[in-house]
Amino acid sequence: MNEDFYNKLNKFIENLPDKKNDYKILTFVMEELDCIPEEVKEYICKKTDIFPFTLEGTIKFYPKLNKNSKKTLKICTGRVCGKRGEELLKRLKDDEIISQKYILDEVKCLGQCQKGPNIYLENEVYNIKNIEELIRFLREKE
Ligand code: FES
Repeated sequence: MNEDFYNKLNKFIENLPDKKNDYKILTFVMEELDCIPEEVKEYICKKTDIFPFTLEGTIKFYPKLNKNSKKTLKICTGRVCGKRGEELLKRLKDDEIISQKYILDEVKCLGQCQKGPNIYLENEVYNIKNIEELIRFLREKE
């Protein structure tokens, strides 16, 4: 997520009378991004001291916060994964179904350079051979 978004989010939280009003914070995020990425949830919890399970409970309770929840998929485009990672990222962005279901992001190393290109999804690193394998893998995960 870009710095501009986090600046807006910080300002929004600072102007709230109740800084722990997670419903209002999450509504703001949905209005800005049309989804609530995992990294943004983590950021909100750190910034406000709201417990992750409290945040998840609020998201589950309100359908408008729940409906477009996307997972973040990070593709390594670091020094070793480099071009192959960039190619995967470009191909995923071109895939209409996948780009609607995932927030696609870059990361500069996942610590498994020799097995790359690598991706990061739901706290796991996966070694990917090619785009066909990656798309099949993502569709099977649904
Ligand atoms: S550069 Fe991709 S895992 Fe290190």
